[in-house]
Amino acid sequence: MKRKGILTSLLLAVGLLATAQTASPIYLDTSAPIESRIDDALSRMTLAEKVRLCHAQGKFYSNGVPRLGIPGLWSSDGPHGVRFEMLWSTWGHANWEIDSCTAFPSLTCLAATWNEDLAYQYGKGVGEEARYRNKQVMLGPGVNIYRTPLNGRNFEYMGEDPYLSSRMCVPYIKGVQSQGVASCVKHFCLNNQETNRTGVNVEVSERALREIYLPAFRAAVTEAGVWSIMGAYNKIRGTHACHNHYTLQEILKGEWGFDGAVLSDWDGAHNAREAAFNGLDIEMGTSSRPDKGISGRQFRFDDSYLGLDFQAGLQDGTYPMELVNDKARRVLRLIFRTAMNGRTTFGNQDFEAHSRIVRQIGNEGVVLLQNNKVGKSPLLPMDASQYESILIVGDNATRVLSHGGQSSELNPQHETSVLKAFKERYGSKVDYAQGYSINAQQAESLRAEAVEKARNASIIIYVGGLNKEEGQDCESRDRKDMGLPFGQNELLSALLDVNPRIITVLMSGNAIELPEVKRMPAILHAWYLGSDAGDIVADIVSGEACPSGKLPFSYPIRLSDCGAHSFGPEAYPGVNGTEVYKEDVLVGYRWFDTKKLQVLFPFGYGLSYTTFRISNVKLNGRTLTLNVENTGTCEGKEVVQVYVGDDEASVLRPMKELKHFKKVGLKPGESQQLSFDISDQDLQFYDEAARSWRVEPGTFTIYVGSSSRDIAAKVKLKV
Ligand code: BGC
Repeated sequence: MKRKGILTSLLLAVGLLATAQTASPIYLDTSAPIESRIDDALSRMTLAEKVRLCHAQGKFYSNGVPRLGIPGLWSSDGPHGVRFEMLWSTWGHANWEIDSCTAFPSLTCLAATWNEDLAYQYGKGVGEEARYRNKQVMLGPGVNIYRTPLNGRNFEYMGEDPYLSSRMCVPYIKGVQSQGVASCVKHFCLNNQETNRTGVNVEVSERALREIYLPAFRAAVTEAGVWSIMGAYNKIRGTHACHNHYTLQEILKGEWGFDGAVLSDWDGAHNAREAAFNGLDIEMGTSSRPDKGISGRQFRFDDSYLGLDFQAGLQDGTYPMELVNDKARRVLRLIFRTAMNGRTTFGNQDFEAHSRIVRQIGNEGVVLLQNNKVGKSPLLPMDASQYESILIVGDNATRVLSHGGQSSELNPQHETSVLKAFKERYGSKVDYAQGYSINAQQAESLRAEAVEKARNASIIIYVGGLNKEEGQDCESRDRKDMGLPFGQNELLSALLDVNPRIITVLMSGNAIELPEVKRMPAILHAWYLGSDAGDIVADIVSGEACPSGKLPFSYPIRLSDCGAHSFGPEAYPGVNGTEVYKEDVLVGYRWFDTKKLQVLFPFGYGLSYTTFRISNVKLNGRTLTLNVENTGTCEGKEVVQVYVGDDEASVLRPMKELKHFKKVGLKPGESQQLSFDISDQDLQFYDEAARSWRVEPGTFTIYVGSSSRDIAAKVKLKV
């Protein structure tokens, strides 16, 4: 009896021991609530381990907790696909053979689709490829506002309107994060130019900050629940954006309740104390410490501002422990949401499926700017059977445009050029002349060759615009002017002299001055279209796809018409390191409308091969209803846009502001009823004195149209 008792107790003890050894800690239990996992992990970590979470350990890698089996975070640019694999601690390509990707159209093109569903699919596609490539953080989307057409990075952003950017970035982020990959929305905030981007101090009114520059970030946080955000390079009211108390601590983490991690832009941290106190969580890209005389090969990742110095400051009481606990908590949250989220899917590189998304986005994003008649009919859509020969002219017809642009550069698994796509469709009818060179080499002979061929061509597809070289649509420098580069104006003019049948395809993320616009019968704004660029252009030109893209920014006639360029260098690019946003809330069409300035093509504008009519616009209480009908001969999509203007305001308000839109697909003769609810949010402005949003009683005008300048009806709303 006694022996049996001892045996039982022994067995029980062994059993308990075994359970204790196999029960996994809570932080590893992916079914446990994330906050409990974080508490558990934090309770096991040393101070040094917490500190190590807060800075990079490689160019695109930040630390986990190796002792506890918590992996670090791999990040990648962003935003148009997963970037080349990079070397450990320099900007060089690692030259792997498996780092190709789908190149999605540039974000400006996505914005031009005005199609939120496509934004989700875009994000999901990027997320799938990121997951497959073991990236936990995708550095994008960029939602800085298009303040000037000179900004070298506008192609990575979503245009000039805060509402449109908000609506488009939310589904993009949700798509990426649906794959267990974090979006890192960037660059927070006021990084609206590349000139002096790391030094410029932006002074902006509170109203412009709240009404124009913050809404897309706020939507990313409060609507999409973005898991990480990147501080910008510039200073804001005197302090660098990567450790700016007001924007990071008060607005982002305070007002908006952001619970994710703030990453610095690469080498965007500059001050140890500010980095510790002002809301930076993961310091990336620091490569020198000018304050300590450390640079070059002497620099180790532990020398980061949030490295060993931070640790010493925590140990000697300079910094309260709460600072590191909060940062570590946020980084762990990011890791548990991504690398350790317990998902059993591993993403994919389904290039075919992703190509289909690329194609759809391109088909809905290309904007038909002009389609005038030559002879009896417009050139577009092009009926190839009518033409004996098709001459393609232009350097962009063959250039791989996913390369270049700096951090958004991609190594596309394929990128179909316009020339290739046209040759595939129209075979030997197609001839090519480069026309211009980006190196200004042989300009005369290239032009002469193109003009000679143009004389006898039945129709010409001109494929030019900007490209991704420095000084064009490319990070780290702004354009020097708004013109067409590489002698293209002279070339276009010479071509038009000998043959007016020219379809111009402009690849660009920015508006371009077009002195020959009146003579150019057909113009397509075709952005950077990614992997299937050539096919997308061919779809649109041939009429297989009916264009439905709408400009996400205004096309000014000349640079000096723009708000940011109307106040001299103090407003752009800044004087003595400071730049004052003097145009205030009047950015883009808000400026052109309010100042009654002509534009070449307005915000929200884009033609179609069919026609639409908006009618029966009625306001019943706060409910706006209307009818939209396809009155033309082919199937197409229209974007119905609703703008609101405050007729009598105590502050200067833009004449009108976009508050709702809806893209609808209609067959010829088909119509659809739409309804929109006008909310207080649609009417309010940011009251600087009260430091809050306010609706002022009075009369408002609701404008309904197909662009900011093509207004089908106005109705009045009394509040
Ligand atoms: C850019 C960021 C980018 C980062 C990493 C920086 O220079 O401003 O947008 O994500 O580099 O490549």
